Amino acid sequence: MARPKIALIGAGQIGGTLAHLAAMKELGDVVLFDIAEGTPQGKALDIAESGPSEGFDATMKGTNDYADIAGADVCIVTAGVARKPGMSRDDLLGINLKVMKSVGEGIAKHAPNAFVICITNPLDAMVWALREFSGLPAEKVVGMAGVLDSARFRHFLSLEFGVSMKDVTAFVLGGHGDTMVPLARYSTVAGIPLPDLVKMGWTTQEKLDAIVQRTRDGGAEIVGLLKTGSAFYAPATSAIEMAEAYLKDQKRVLPCAAFVKGAYGLDGMYVGVPTVIGANGIEKVIDIKLDKDEQAMFDKSVDAVKGLVEACKGIDPSLA
Ligand code: APR
Repeated sequence: MARPKIALIGAGQIGGTLAHLAAMKELGDVVLFDIAEGTPQGKALDIAESGPSEGFDATMKGTNDYADIAGADVCIVTAGVARKPGMSRDDLLGINLKVMKSVGEGIAKHAPNAFVICITNPLDAMVWALREFSGLPAEKVVGMAGVLDSARFRHFLSLEFGVSMKDVTAFVLGGHGDTMVPLARYSTVAGIPLPDLVKMGWTTQEKLDAIVQRTRDGGAEIVGLLKTGSAFYAPATSAIEMAEAYLKDQKRVLPCAAFVKGAYGLDGMYVGVPTVIGANGIEKVIDIKLDKDEQAMFDKSVDAVKGLVEACKGIDPSLA
């Protein structure tokens, strides 16, 4: 049977890392697409040359021609610009919206059956625009944010508790930005919810609040350190986890920016929610009951995303 085909739209920091991870995990043959001439070709060749040592057979192709993504099973989109220190994700909106238009059209023409994972920021608005521009079914177009946000939360919690990251689960809802909603009572150490761990004296509410804030600021912390760009290792790993869930029909329960209609009282918009990812794409949106405080935080996050979507419609009237 032919190997799956994975198209990476954008061959920058995240795109290159995605290609390397996809090869090492033997998820499929990789096509790296970018508008910059030489970058995708150079990265593809460099990664291919690691094949003999690593022992993978997946092929790598770098290209500036959308025709080369033809028939891709998965497309992961990182095309656009990344943040610099002092910028919020929202500052990227105008430039990256134009990029989503060309990417959406390219995918619609050459890979209309793909499962599309968007990483470009501001995430919730960009994945919405990409769906609009591509015209693909909403269950096949999804944004990567919650897996990364919850991975950051899990990492910080594991440091606080001195336990393996594998035994920490975390639950993050809402938009990928300052209003994201890390849900403490659904986050656990081996099934023990965080509020119980506070009662057990493992940590204090103050420390937990600080970890929640650090999670919300997780992207900015890396931008501040790197100074020349934004995070790429963990974002790439998170998207690969989602791609693998789709390609292997794993039915993974993963938080993603999915199209939500009905659940959470929403009437059709992209926002971070828990989902089930399998061979049909987003197979289910899990509609959990929120308490009053959580609902208020979620509503605030939803409003922030709606504001960005309105801004997109203002910039490109074809989206209105
Ligand atoms: N089509 C294809 N590729 C494009 C286009 C386009 N229209 N416009 C820009 N690119 C390419 C650039 O040439 C560059 O190689 O997108 C790539 C982006 O790479 P980086 O600048 O290294 O950014 P990266 O760190 O990979 O982040 C990409 O993901 O997390 C988000 O905020 C981040 O929006 C940013 C995106």
